[in-house]
Amino acid sequence: MAIDDPSKLRSYSWFNGKEYYNFSRRANLRALGISREAFHGKPVIGICNSFSELNNCNAHLRQVADAVKRGVWAAGGFPLEFPVMSLGEQYMKPTTMLFRNLMAMDVEESIRANPVDGVVLLCGCDKTTPAMLMGAASADVPAMIVTGGPTLSGNYQGKIIGQGTDGRKIFDLYRMNRISPEELQEIEGCMVRSAGHCTVMGTASTMAIVAEALGMSLPGAAAIPAPDSRRLALAEMSGRRIVEMVREELKPSCILTREAFENAITVDMAAGGSTNAVVHLLAIAGRTRHKLRLDDFDAISRRTPFLVNVRPSGQHMMEDFFYAGGVPAVMRELLPLLHRDALTVNGKTVDANVREAPCHNREVVREFSNPIYREGGTVVLRGNLCPDGAVLKQTAASPELCEHTGPAYVFESYQQMHDTIDSMDLPIDADTVLVMKGCGPKGAPGFPEWGHIPMPKVLMERGITDCVRISDARMSGTSFGTVVLHVSPESGIGGPLAVVQTGDRITLSVANRSLNVHIGEEEMQRRLARLKPASPHYTRGYGKLFLDHVTQAHLGCDFDFLQAE
Ligand code: FES
Repeated sequence: MAIDDPSKLRSYSWFNGKEYYNFSRRANLRALGISREAFHGKPVIGICNSFSELNNCNAHLRQVADAVKRGVWAAGGFPLEFPVMSLGEQYMKPTTMLFRNLMAMDVEESIRANPVDGVVLLCGCDKTTPAMLMGAASADVPAMIVTGGPTLSGNYQGKIIGQGTDGRKIFDLYRMNRISPEELQEIEGCMVRSAGHCTVMGTASTMAIVAEALGMSLPGAAAIPAPDSRRLALAEMSGRRIVEMVREELKPSCILTREAFENAITVDMAAGGSTNAVVHLLAIAGRTRHKLRLDDFDAISRRTPFLVNVRPSGQHMMEDFFYAGGVPAVMRELLPLLHRDALTVNGKTVDANVREAPCHNREVVREFSNPIYREGGTVVLRGNLCPDGAVLKQTAASPELCEHTGPAYVFESYQQMHDTIDSMDLPIDADTVLVMKGCGPKGAPGFPEWGHIPMPKVLMERGITDCVRISDARMSGTSFGTVVLHVSPESGIGGPLAVVQTGDRITLSVANRSLNVHIGEEEMQRRLARLKPASPHYTRGYGKLFLDHVTQAHLGCDFDFLQAE
C-alpha cells in the first residue's frame, strides 16, 4: 500500500505533534539552515555514508552522496547525510572482519534511532557492503545500496595490472630479486589509480555484484568505475528511487527473500566471486527469515556455469566487465537458473530488468552455452579435517592440484609461517600440503585474510608456482591458488585442524568435495584430548564481545544475538 499521507511516515512522529520535543527537533533541524518548507511533510532520506580518508576505496563517497541528494530533492524527499564507521581493508589491524559486525550494528542502530523514512547506503570496500546489507536487513526501513565502484584499471608501462591479484605476483618477483626496489616504487604509483574498490573480482567487486543480484541496487549499478560520470548519475537515480520506495513501503524484507539469496549465489558463482561472499551471504541471510546453509552454495555451484572472465579467475578487469554489460548481461545468461519473479529495488522483477540486457563483449561475459568452466567458482568441502565445511575457489586453483594427496607441513601460527616461509631450509617439495593453524574467527582473532600463504621461496626457485594450502583463515578475493579456506570448526576452538602434524598425509578431492587427513579416528580423538585451550585474545571491550558471540565460518561469523529469530 502506498503512503500518500505524510502523517504515516516514520519520521512524522519526530517532527510533528504537540510535545515540546517536536518543537525542539524542528528548531534543531532549522539550525542546519533549512527552511520549514524544505522538510515539512517530506520523506526523510538518510544517506548512510562510510566515507573515510582512512579507507581510500570509499574516499569519493561524499561526491556520491551529493549526487544522491540531488535525486532525493528532485523526487520531493528531504536528504540528511550521516556517517557510519568505515572499514579500510588496507589499514585496519588485525583485520576488518573483526569489525564487520560492529559496523553492521552501527548501521542498524543509526537507522533505527533516527527520523529516517528511507536510506541510501554508500559503501564499497570489502566489509562495508555486507555490513550495510546486514544492518539494513535488521532495521528493515526502505533501503538501497549504492557502491562506490571499482578503481580504474592499474597500468604499468602499458601493461594492465590489478590491485591484489597482480600486486601479489609482482611482489613475488620482487622477493625473488627479479624486480628492483626502484621498479617496485614506480609500480606503487600506477596500480591503484583512483578512489574506488579493488578492480578485480575481489570481495568488494563480488559484494557489489551480490547486492545488485539480490535486488538491493539499481540494475547495472555494481560495475560502473568509480571515476565514471555514470556512477554519479546512478547515485542521482538512486536518490530519486528511494523516495518512491518510501511511498511504496518497499522494505528490505520484501526484497531479501529466499529466491533473492539463491539468485545472488548463482550470480556469485557465475562471476567467480570471492570466497568471502559465502561468509557474508550467510550472515546477511541470517538477519532475515531465510537462513542459508553452506551446502546451498555447493548445490548452486554445481549447476551454475562460470561465465565472467575477470581476474583472478579470468583475464580481464572490472572496467572491462562494465563495458561488456556488467551484472545485467550475466543475469540475462543465467535466467534459466534464476528466480525471474524476484522483486528488486526499482519495483520491477529480475526478469523485467535483465531479459533484454545487451552484452558487448563475449570474451568477458560468456554465453550460458559457452562457459569458461562448467561449474561455479566456489566449492564446499567436507571431511574429517573440516566436519562443518571448508571452501575452495576452484576457478582460481590449479586443476592438477584439485585431486591431490601429499604430506602436511604445519605452521602452528601465522607468525611462524611469516617468519619461516622464505627459509631455503624448509623441508618441502611440490607434493607438500601447507597447513596453517590459528587463523579462524576466535583463534586469530577476527578471521583475517591470511589464508593465501605465500608460495615458499624454496619452491618458487624450483619453478613451482602453486601448492595445496589449507587453513581456517579467509583469503582476499583478489588472491589465487589451490587454497582451502574457512576450515570449520576452527583450530582455535579445538577443530580437527588443530591436531594435524607435519608428515600426516592429506587428501584434497574437489571432485568428491572432500578434505581428509589420513589418521584413524582413535588417533584423532587421542590428539584432540591432549589439546589445551588457549587463553583468550581479549578480556574486555569490543574484542571480548566478539569472542563471546561470534559464530563459526559455516554460520557466517555474525554475532549470535544479532541473527533474526
Ligand atoms: Fe578496499 Fe580492496 S582494499 S576493496
